[in-house]
Amino acid sequence: MKLPDAFLAQMREILKDEYDAYLASFDQPRHFGLRVNEAKISVADFLKISPFELKPVEWCHSGFYYDGLQAKPAKHPYYHAGLYYLQEPSAMVPAEILDIEDGDVILDGCAAPGGKSTQLYGRMGTNSLLVANDISASRAQGLLKNLEMAGCTNMLVTASELEKLDMMFDKILIDAPCSGQGMFRKEPQLISAYQNRDGGYYSPIQKKLLKTAAGMLKPGGRLVYSTCTFDPRENEEVIQDALDSDPELRLLPIKGYEGFADGLNGLTDCKRLYPHRIQGEGHFLALLQRKGNSPKPAFEPATFTCDDPFFRHLDPAFLRGHLEVRDERILMVPTLRTGKSVRVLRSGLLLGRMKNNGFEPSQALAMALRKEQFDQVLDLNSSDERVIRYLKGETIDCRQYDLEGWVLICVDGYPLGFARISSGIFKNRYDRNWRYV
Ligand SMILES: C[S@@+](CC[C@H](N)C(=O)[O-])C[C@H]1O[C@@H](n2cnc3c(N)ncnc32)[C@H](O)[C@@H]1O
Repeated sequence: MKLPDAFLAQMREILKDEYDAYLASFDQPRHFGLRVNEAKISVADFLKISPFELKPVEWCHSGFYYDGLQAKPAKHPYYHAGLYYLQEPSAMVPAEILDIEDGDVILDGCAAPGGKSTQLYGRMGTNSLLVANDISASRAQGLLKNLEMAGCTNMLVTASELEKLDMMFDKILIDAPCSGQGMFRKEPQLISAYQNRDGGYYSPIQKKLLKTAAGMLKPGGRLVYSTCTFDPRENEEVIQDALDSDPELRLLPIKGYEGFADGLNGLTDCKRLYPHRIQGEGHFLALLQRKGNSPKPAFEPATFTCDDPFFRHLDPAFLRGHLEVRDERILMVPTLRTGKSVRVLRSGLLLGRMKNNGFEPSQALAMALRKEQFDQVLDLNSSDERVIRYLKGETIDCRQYDLEGWVLICVDGYPLGFARISSGIFKNRYDRNWRYV
C-alpha cells in the first residue's frame, strides 16, 4: 500500500515517537465489529443465541468483535431479522457517548448508510424521535432501508441540507464527511480519492456543517462531532471555530478508555483513536453542549384504528402517532414537522398499501413488530432450510399448519416478513429488494 507523502509527513508531525508503531499497524489485520440492535433484542438475550463467537468492544456496551475470516454474519437469518448491524468498532463510539433520554428529539445530520442512526435508535425510548438526514438522496435510500431493517418507527428520514430542516434538537450527531485518513487500512481504495480531496478541501465544509448543526441545538442540548480522519484541520480546528463563533457552546470531557488519545492544540477534552493504540480504525470525537436547559414537552400518543381486516390481527397498542393516507400508502407518522422545502423520504412507519383486494402490509411493518404483536405467526427455527428459502423469495411448504390470510414469518421468534396463505397456497411477500443473495 503506497501512502501519500504529505499524509505521512503530517502523521509523523502528529504522532512523533509513536509514528513507527502507527506505520506498523498497516501490517496488522483490521477488526470486524457487530453491534446488537437493542430495539429488537437485549444484549444478554443475543449472547444466549449468538451463532458466532464474540468478544466485547470495551467502549460500546452492545458492540462485539467477531472473526471476520471465519464467521459470515451478513449471511445469517438473524441479520435479516435486524438483530445486529455490522459496524467497525471505532465507529461505535460517537453514538455511544451521546446520552440519550426518553423524549429527546435527535438529529443524525450526516447519517447514511445508517450505522450510527440505528445505534441511536436502539437506545432511544418510544417517546423520542430520530431525524436521520443525509444530503445525498441515493445514500439516504440505503439509510432508510437500514433503519427499516432495524425496526425503526418514530423517525423522519430526509435528504436535505441541514439548514433547511428548520427544527430544534435535544441531541445531535454530526459524523462529518472527511478525508478518511483513519480508514486507509480498512479501505485502501480511499487513498486515491484522498489525493484530490485532503483535509484542506473538507475543513470549510465541516466548519459550516458544525456551526449550522450547533445552531439547531436546544439550550442544554448536546452534540457529538466525529470524523474518521486525523488531520487537525478537520478536527480540532473545526471545534475551535465553532467555540469561537458561539459563546453559548462549551466542550465537555469524553470518557476515556485505554488507548484513547487526547485532542491536539489544547483541546484535550476531544479524543483521538489510532489503530496502533486500540483494536479499531482511526477516529476523532468531540462532545459539545449548549448552555441552558430546555424542558421536554409532554408526549401525547394518539392512537388510531383502521378498519381493514388485517388490523384485527395486530396488537392495537402497537399503533401510535397519527395515521396518514397518501395515495395508496398508509403511514403511522410522528407529530413533528420539518421545514417545507425538505425532501422527506419517510415520515414515520410505512404500514402498507391499500390495494384493490385490501390492505397489504409493508416489509417495514414486519420489521417493526414483535412476534407477540401479530396473531398469525409462522415461527421457524434458524436451522430450518425454509428460512433461507423464504428470504430468497421462494414458496415454502406450510401445509402442516392451520394458517389462512396474512402470516408473519419469524426466525426463532424474530420477524422476517409477511406471507399470504390462501387455501394452503403460500405467497411469499418478502420484499424483493431485500432478498437473500
Ligand atoms: C462519514 S459518512 C456518515 C456515516 C454514517 N454516520 C454512518 O454511521 O453510517 C458522511 C455522510 O455525510 C454526507 N454528507 C456530505 N455532506 C453533507 C452535508 N452538507 N449535509 C449532510 N450530509 C452530508 C455524505 O453523503 C455521507 O453519507
